[in-house]
Amino acid sequence: MLTQEDNEFACRVGPRTPMGELFRRFWLPAMLPSEVPEPDCPPVRLRLLGEDLVAFRDTNGQIGVVEAHCPHRGASLFFGRNEECGIRCVYHGWKFDSTGACVDMPSEPAESNFKSKVRITAYPAREHGGVIWVYMGPPELEPEVPQLEWSLVPDSHRTVSKWYQETNYLQGYEGDIDSSHASFLHSYLDPSRSPDDRTIRADLKAMDRAPKLIANDTDYGFRYGARRRIGDDLYNWRVTQALLPTYSLIGFLDFPAGGRAWIPIDDNRTMTFYFSYHPDRPLTESDLAIRKTGRAFPPHLIEGTFNPLRNRENDYLIDRELQRSTTYSGIHGVNDQDRAVQESMGPIYDRRREHLGSSDLAIMSARRRLIQAARDLEQGVEPYAAHHGEVYRVRAMDVNAPIDDFDAVVDTYGTRMLAQVE
Ligand code: FES
Ligand SMILES: [Fe+2]
Repeated sequence: MLTQEDNEFACRVGPRTPMGELFRRFWLPAMLPSEVPEPDCPPVRLRLLGEDLVAFRDTNGQIGVVEAHCPHRGASLFFGRNEECGIRCVYHGWKFDSTGACVDMPSEPAESNFKSKVRITAYPAREHGGVIWVYMGPPELEPEVPQLEWSLVPDSHRTVSKWYQETNYLQGYEGDIDSSHASFLHSYLDPSRSPDDRTIRADLKAMDRAPKLIANDTDYGFRYGARRRIGDDLYNWRVTQALLPTYSLIGFLDFPAGGRAWIPIDDNRTMTFYFSYHPDRPLTESDLAIRKTGRAFPPHLIEGTFNPLRNRENDYLIDRELQRSTTYSGIHGVNDQDRAVQESMGPIYDRRREHLGSSDLAIMSARRRLIQAARDLEQGVEPYAAHHGEVYRVRAMDVNAPIDDFDAVVDTYGTRMLAQVE
């Protein structure tokens, strides 16, 4: 459980909150390049860490991310004209470039130098690894982009998707590092009917539904092993990587593999990014076809939006007959299942009311690591990982071994957990 105070500390991410400051020390995945597909295309709304922003791609292809409201009298730049290397407010024509400089003020006399005194808040943005990243922290502390393996492979080897979740970021992230729920929420009543999703073997998942969890802190966050007993002196170890601030890399059987990032829109909403990649070859039609079924990640979305089709309004289209006969939850896709339970907890769960057991160890580790990093930052200690992009060069792992000790597993199979892409 968390005290009310710690829960607020962990979940509030707006300007000048300690956790919000921690997030503002990292480059954050914020958009897909397809949202602003070409120079001078229409601007889009972006809400990030409780701030209303507008993003545009200027004439040179540079991404601009600026505060939503024009500093003249506050009209939204969402309605703006994106033209000739800047965004122009349609109320009185003031124009700003991607650095936030006011480059034209046609409503003032030509001899006025007023425009040189006006700026709009602008955040650096860059396109890399199939994602548009935004940095919202102090300019003099601009960090390195994390060298996550999925972001380093050629575009053809990767797919990225994004959708919205109606909860605080922590609730979603906690689901990613909660190995035991896979044996229930995502299971089939008859494990042999479970489709092969290449992430976990259904028979092993069913064999031991109370995995033992062991976590180690690392430079990038922490990793944990979930140990399931699958025979006499034989164990399945699923190692999940949890990388600051909120990336996961999930244990897998074969590539393509991936993970997620949980990026706060504000305290009550989150954008989830899902990454899947193969380090050595382009993704095939069949790799991509799996992603379109909505059975895993991403969920099916309402056309033209990032809002999932199965949502709270329609009870995630739960099928009670399916639940009785076939699947544990009766809900179609793995992410639909996750969102159903996580959104049912309310936007910010009151963690004074929870009762954590030994299977919740990784969740405790994640909270402790995030809260500690935010407290350190309050004391002036910058997060190490933000300035050491190379520490992100790791993989998750799934291995069956006659070893019951996590440190020994790491010693024996540690090289399998290193990214191989240059
Ligand atoms: S409100 Fe934007 S130019 Fe006047
Ligand atoms: Fe899940």
